[in-house]
Amino acid sequence: MSTLDVITYPDKFLSRPTKPVEDIDEKIQRLIDDMAQTMYEAPGIGLAAIQVGIDKSLIVYDISPREEGHSLDVLINPRIIDSEGATISKDEACLSVPDFKADVKRHAAIQVEGYDRHGKPLRFEVDGLMAIMLQHEIDHLQGKLFIDRISHLKRELYKRQIKKQLQKH
Ligand code: NI
Repeated sequence: MSTLDVITYPDKFLSRPTKPVEDIDEKIQRLIDDMAQTMYEAPGIGLAAIQVGIDKSLIVYDISPREEGHSLDVLINPRIIDSEGATISKDEACLSVPDFKADVKRHAAIQVEGYDRHGKPLRFEVDGLMAIMLQHEIDHLQGKLFIDRISHLKRELYKRQIKKQLQKH
């Protein structure tokens, strides 16, 4: 297993829509393992393939508390098929959007469809942090970042902050 580099904003690659995974082959299994290691090391609770430079529809996630050990989940070609209610995701953050947090409006509950790493079809309903995290990760697969879902003003503030940082380097 190896740790992969996480692409960060404003890299345009992050706004690319991803392609479906067609074969869950050896290469995909290796990618899943490397993505998991990258996520745990960061640490983060979710990671989309596009964030490590692969434009495929694939996410890994684990929202279990660290002290309780790892419980990795994988979703291939995920799709939100139903949603209900609204909630505010407090201080949402992203490994691809360093040094920034913001409140984001999200659905309170979602129904998701996809495949696990063995190709088994999955369909389930989630709410709370799990629903927020999955909406965030599935957004990535459509080329969307959480800063695309905040006010124009806040987004501009972040862009200015990033510009300043880039000039310093
Ligand atoms: Ni993210």
